[in-house]
Amino acid sequence: MSLTDVTLKQKYPAKAHARRVSKFLTDRGFSSDGVIYLEAQKTRMVEDDDQAEPFRQRRYFFYLSGCKLPDAYLTYDIAKDILTLFIPPIDPESVIWAGLPESKEEALQKYDVDHVLYSNEVNATLAGYGPSKTTTVYAIPEQISEHITFLPFAETEFTSLRTAIDECRVIKDSYEIALIRKANEISTLAHIEAAKVTLHASNEQEIYGAFIGTCISNGAHEQAYHSICASGTSCATLHYLRNDQPLRERLNILLDAGAQYECYCADITRTFPVNGTFSKESKVIYDLVDKMQSACFKLLKANVRWEDVHEHAHWVAIRGLKEAGILVGDEQEIFDKRISVAFFPHGLGHYLGMDTHDTGGHANYEDPDTMFKYLRVRGQVPAGAVITVEPGIYFCNFILDPVLEDPELSKYIDKSVLDQYWTVGGVRIEDDVHITENGYENLTNTPKL
Ligand code: GLY
Ligand code: MN
Repeated sequence: MSLTDVTLKQKYPAKAHARRVSKFLTDRGFSSDGVIYLEAQKTRMVEDDDQAEPFRQRRYFFYLSGCKLPDAYLTYDIAKDILTLFIPPIDPESVIWAGLPESKEEALQKYDVDHVLYSNEVNATLAGYGPSKTTTVYAIPEQISEHITFLPFAETEFTSLRTAIDECRVIKDSYEIALIRKANEISTLAHIEAAKVTLHASNEQEIYGAFIGTCISNGAHEQAYHSICASGTSCATLHYLRNDQPLRERLNILLDAGAQYECYCADITRTFPVNGTFSKESKVIYDLVDKMQSACFKLLKANVRWEDVHEHAHWVAIRGLKEAGILVGDEQEIFDKRISVAFFPHGLGHYLGMDTHDTGGHANYEDPDTMFKYLRVRGQVPAGAVITVEPGIYFCNFILDPVLEDPELSKYIDKSVLDQYWTVGGVRIEDDVHITENGYENLTNTPKL
């Protein structure tokens, strides 16, 4: 059994997360005479059908429970350090269709909580916190059911819990790292299978299907995000959705796909030639993106400024595109005029965890500087964070045409050389890394070319 699987034999550290979130609150002056209250996502029916919608657990609830059940609740008594999970009671009618649900005894065995009660006991339990007349309840206002009453509490605090959990989620513990590693291991099997299928595939959807099927066969029934399985010039569409086009004479596949495992995500991109061999131009761009990524890896360690790493990727891109003859002129001017942004328009990476674009990154989408506008992480990256490193170079006419039409900007681009590169579409290479005190650990073991 791998070390990852040994780690994952233990319980998800819900109690440690509850303590961490509480400390975040009390360190900021909030009362420890308080109760954290969270709700699971509800079972929701498809609008015009008698089936439930695909279920996605609320991340705030999962972080403090490790429980994927719908229609559950939790309370955490901060001062007494007691975590209570409320699960749906047995409904004899539903047993016929869905089998027996988890019992209280099973739930107590499975989750890192102190007590398990039924969900029809939530209000009575909340009322029990009331008599002291000083207790605060912390909750997320959009995630409180109508039937829940906080009347017994002296104070309701609805502004800080979401932020507290968002910020705590940035630093992963070893169990969370193991979950992300597991999601990566399964995704790697799927990327390998998808690459094999490509050699005899005639449509993007065969590659897409191979990826999803392999994830499911290996225990990851959900995806972290909609796979991007693009071929040819569609590789330039950053979040390409179709995944259904014939491969015909197209040069490359860009497969950006990752499994979700027990609510934790992998996010991996590989770009490879459809027929097994890169064209000359594709190879130039692939090698450049690879170089951007390895140059960025070298800068990674605790508290590195993410803007610095992102800028570094641009410098490597500028030099490489100049060497290829696509860019011409003074490198500093090219950098200052943000010409490289037209080839590398997105951010270098984002936090990864329960969400693919995980919380706590403090992006500034209003930033007027195009180089940083889409950078999903701003400022220093702490040890314990998991972040993607995903440089790319794209030949996207929607982005490049306005630059080519502007004489001030187009003078830095050699159009005749650029014209040889449109069929490359785009190249992105993306790995998930765990930032450590002195460096980083790459959690993605998917082969590269
Ligand atoms: N994997 C898609 C993205 O990071 O936006
Ligand atoms: Mn990504």
